[in-house]
Amino acid sequence: MDFQLTEEQLAVQAAAREFAQNELWAGVIERDEHQKFPAEQIKKMGELGFMGMMVSPEYGGGGMDTVSYVLAMEEISKVDASCSVIMSVNNSLVCWGLEKYGTEEQKRKYLPRLTSGEIIGAFALSEPEAGSDATSQRTTADDKGDYYLLNGTKNWITNGTTASVYLVVAQTNPELKHRGINVLIVEKGMDGFQTAPKENKLGIRGSDTCSLLFTDVKVPKENRIGEDGFGFKFAMQVLAGGRIGIAAQALGIASGAYELSLKYSKERKAFGVPISQHQAIQFKLADMATNIDAARLLCLQSAHDKDAHQDYAKSGAMAKLFASKVAMDTAVEAVQIHGGYGFVKEYHVERMMRDAKITQIYEGTSEIQKIVISREILK
Ligand code: CAA
Repeated sequence: MDFQLTEEQLAVQAAAREFAQNELWAGVIERDEHQKFPAEQIKKMGELGFMGMMVSPEYGGGGMDTVSYVLAMEEISKVDASCSVIMSVNNSLVCWGLEKYGTEEQKRKYLPRLTSGEIIGAFALSEPEAGSDATSQRTTADDKGDYYLLNGTKNWITNGTTASVYLVVAQTNPELKHRGINVLIVEKGMDGFQTAPKENKLGIRGSDTCSLLFTDVKVPKENRIGEDGFGFKFAMQVLAGGRIGIAAQALGIASGAYELSLKYSKERKAFGVPISQHQAIQFKLADMATNIDAARLLCLQSAHDKDAHQDYAKSGAMAKLFASKVAMDTAVEAVQIHGGYGFVKEYHVERMMRDAKITQIYEGTSEIQKIVISREILK
């Protein structure tokens, strides 16, 4: 792996940093407190090319590599992890999957609007009884000739109420188990498709998460992605790439909490000196900085593997497993360094602590990442 970033990658990183620092800080506390969706910010992110970074320019994307995507995700997550999860799902789970496996017609129909930020996409796999155990899909897509009849419920869907396009995982042939699963493109407004009210969450409160309800939704056959029965492999592949994005999100939350802690420790005085001069604080900062650098290397390694067309299931899972723990640990220590100030909203680190937790849960819990890693090691 080349440790030197290219000029293009540095430019993407600088643009994402400038956008996040100038346009996301204002209002981030309010968006979190009132669960306000960052509609304007996402529109701007689309205009700047952050919503379809890896999609080829032919379909309106930025044609960038995964390393650039990781760099941008880190910068945006430093300030607002709600914006970055919306970005991550749109880029990794929706646009990437559509470009890789969609038909020419599907790509032309959806990608230009998804990459420009005009519309947002969602990925619907989890169900009331199928989260970690993703093969146990209860949502059914019965083959009716020209169309599939979709019935069932999906849970915890990021961009659930705001998306216009949903990639929905459903079982067509239960006797074939996971090989009978399909992924269908469902559009908002299709008869029989409803979204439930959004969940009241601990963190990433600016992003919307809800259940989806399908009752006899007729989805045209041409909306299936890939061959009949390809759905589970599709889901596993997009999630493998998605984990790199969430690892970068976790890295960004950790870096954001660390940067605030470093600044605060130089300003806040106790016992006559800035608290950064006390060894108790220095040890915390040293641990944070070391863990963040290690997490960044894992993120870049997995992004590099994907760009080099090497297997990235293991390195992506490792990056997510490690970076999400670093995010949680760093955010908890950031609150500790800030003392009482860390416990109130104005200092941001309490939000980062709440936001960090989801990175150990979605796109596969930490336990799922260990399953993926150990299977790769042992095979
Ligand atoms: N690429 C391609 N195919 C893959 C794959 C990959 N990375 N990983 C597995 N597969 C294939 C296997 O080859 C196998 O296919 P065949 O049987 O045809 O050979 C098939 O998938 C089933 O694999 P397993 O037998 O390993 O499946 P399993 O039931 O043991 O489960 C698991 C494996 C890793 C636990 C998987 O179920 C999993 O990843 N679970 C977690 C799901 C998840 O991440 N959910 C998050 C929801 S999305 C989300 O959170 C988005 C958001 O809102 C932010």
